Amino acid sequence: MVVQIVETPEALRAARKRLSGYVGAVNTMGALHYGHLSLVSQARDENDAVVVSVFVNPTQFAPGEDFDNYPRSLERDLEMLDRAGVDVVFTPTPGVMYLPHHQTSVIVDEVSQGLEGASRPDHFRGVATVVCKLLNLMQPTVVYFGQKDAQQVVVIRRMVRDLNMPVEVAVCPTVRESDGLAMSSRNVYLQPDERLAAAALYRSMKAAADRYDEGERSPEALRATALEVLAAEVKARVEYVSLNHPNTLYGIHKPTDDPMLLTMAVKIGKPRLLDNCLLPYALNNREHLSEILGVI
Ligand code: PAJ
Repeated sequence: MVVQIVETPEALRAARKRLSGYVGAVNTMGALHYGHLSLVSQARDENDAVVVSVFVNPTQFAPGEDFDNYPRSLERDLEMLDRAGVDVVFTPTPGVMYLPHHQTSVIVDEVSQGLEGASRPDHFRGVATVVCKLLNLMQPTVVYFGQKDAQQVVVIRRMVRDLNMPVEVAVCPTVRESDGLAMSSRNVYLQPDERLAAAALYRSMKAAADRYDEGERSPEALRATALEVLAAEVKARVEYVSLNHPNTLYGIHKPTDDPMLLTMAVKIGKPRLLDNCLLPYALNNREHLSEILGVI
């Protein structure tokens, strides 16, 4: 392996000092798939060096969530990152990231509260805090996030802006399986029949996107279209389907020609699956996402 593996903040700082030019960063919780690798390859294309973190961050899991059982495959992850041409991988333990008496956290207020925040109240505080710490250590020129977690992008961009953090945040489109299911480390929890049912999320988004393209602008009608497709899948238990402003995440309740963010959380079997897209659907590419999602 040529990739350098560092396990402590001190070792990461030393490795970072040896890198020069543009540095791209990707933060992950491991169990890597092509979605993660698309961020790495974008970072590789646009920078002189790439640093990736693999850290299952305990503070973003609520008690009773899957922290202990979250899929872990470090050996395989490191091989994949080595082959992808990554320069440095940071694989800390919770103990070195959160020293005894750790008591500082980053709260990004309003945009953390709705959607995912409604059922996971401390989740984005955990995410914002760990990403702030990781960016302080990695000091990248650009950090790459996936559209897959759209609210996370909005929260991180707001933190970077509000705290004057010296980094550019780039957004990469969601990478999907051939039937449209968004790739996710948690998809391994799906039983074979549930895996088939899971394609309903993408079908429901596309149905709403098609209606949008036909001229429909009523958020209620677009939402109803997505819900109808999900209702036809007996295994799908919808938590929310929502239309929100892509920067403020305010709910959209009146017809508008401005871009909308369609998001959904749906339980199928054990896992809770998330998906989202911008409407019009043609905006779901690197350039438009980076210009629209979470930009004030
Ligand atoms: P994780 O779920 O491992 O995701 C790491 C990054 O990969 C995130 O930016 C996520 O949006 C992106 N990603 C995941 N699935 C994707 C897909 N199908 N297509 C494109 N990108 C995808 O998100 C986290 O980890 C954590 O919250 C983290 C930011 C690392 C903080 O702990």
